Amino acid sequence: MEIRFTETVLRDANQSQLATRLAYEDFEEILPALDNAGFYSLECWGGATFDSCLRYLNEDPWERLRKIRKACPNTKLQMLLRGQNILGYRHYPDDIVRLFVEKSVENGIDIIRIFDALNDIRNIKVAVEETIKCKAHAQGAICYTVSPIHNLENYVAYAKQMEDMGVSSIAIKDMAGIMSPKECYDLVKALKENTSLPVVVHTHGTTGLGSMTLLKAAEAGADVIDTAISCLSNGTSQPPTETLVYTLKQFGYDIDINMDELKNINDFFKNVRSKFLENGQLNPLVMATDANALIYQVPGGMLSNLVAQLKAQNAFDKFNQVLEETPKVREDLGYPPLVTPMSQMVGVQATMNVLVGERYKLIPKEIKAYIRGEYGKAPGSLNPELVKKALGEEQPIDYRFADSLEPGFEKAKKEIGSLAKSDEDVLSYVAFPQVAEKFLRERNG
Ligand code: CO
Repeated sequence: MEIRFTETVLRDANQSQLATRLAYEDFEEILPALDNAGFYSLECWGGATFDSCLRYLNEDPWERLRKIRKACPNTKLQMLLRGQNILGYRHYPDDIVRLFVEKSVENGIDIIRIFDALNDIRNIKVAVEETIKCKAHAQGAICYTVSPIHNLENYVAYAKQMEDMGVSSIAIKDMAGIMSPKECYDLVKALKENTSLPVVVHTHGTTGLGSMTLLKAAEAGADVIDTAISCLSNGTSQPPTETLVYTLKQFGYDIDINMDELKNINDFFKNVRSKFLENGQLNPLVMATDANALIYQVPGGMLSNLVAQLKAQNAFDKFNQVLEETPKVREDLGYPPLVTPMSQMVGVQATMNVLVGERYKLIPKEIKAYIRGEYGKAPGSLNPELVKKALGEEQPIDYRFADSLEPGFEKAKKEIGSLAKSDEDVLSYVAFPQVAEKFLRERNG
């Protein structure tokens, strides 16, 4: 039995615990050890890191990728891509998605984990196709959620659609850390039995299930698990790398990982953690376990957003009402998985319903766009009364929103003009217009 590890310290652990504020200089020194440790892959790019580089760190994300590539010639580099949203928050035209994938691979990425918040296959199609065309590894991800309409059958059906599309592996992406060891075991087994693809499991320690879930993932035959070096593990991050290696080795798994290097990596990041604790960018709460998400089926990050929103409006006494309203709104919307951007949208609508004192008296434009079908197909059916309130006589359309978009690259290139020195610069501008423009202006002096 063999099992392999994807180390997430540079991307998801960084994003979940360090507010994505790791600068290249913060980890440069440890890259040779990360390269030498024997990981299947290093998740090191994409997700929120791209935005954070430009917005907070005054770093060119593309240059970061090239530097990591140079320092880690022996390990596969992996990124997270939100399908048709690439790394931004809206749907982009196909030419942008294709070029983004092409440039990611050209600058050093080997594996692209591609997901859509609604598990709408149409929204990952172009990114998957282009990844395959660029001879990189397209990993199709299932957003895991729990609802009356989500079951093994739908997940397997989605995985098979991705297999037909030509992906090289399937990842189960449990962003809220709510997938139980049993649910994970059953799902991995079902995927192994019904597809011929390697299965990767990604979870979070938020509710305390994480390590047990990965143990059962291994038992069910998972090929790769995502873990984070121990000092930045658990809580809102991934389960600990060293602990899983230790445990699984005792069970007889073949694991080719250098434990001395893991210790070096952990010692190194302990110093980083101290620095972030001191400067306040690491909130100790994100390292703790909170099983409330199991009761509300609401991701930890969403709970803390709700608290912040209500406190800002001096309405924290309504917290329990909002918590009760949240699953009702999710049901009315056809049970979308609570991942960006759906988690924010559902949270805002639930808060409005409670604070206004009447359900759906106010409906944000993002929710209207979702109901119209602009984000993709809702997993379940929409509440017809809500549809009427939101759209009036208009009907939702079942279509791929990107089909309605004009190509965007040439237009963006003209707009940003000489500030962009490369196609990569133009793509940064397309993803985060104001932030990238400011970054490019300062960089060019
Ligand atoms: Co994650």
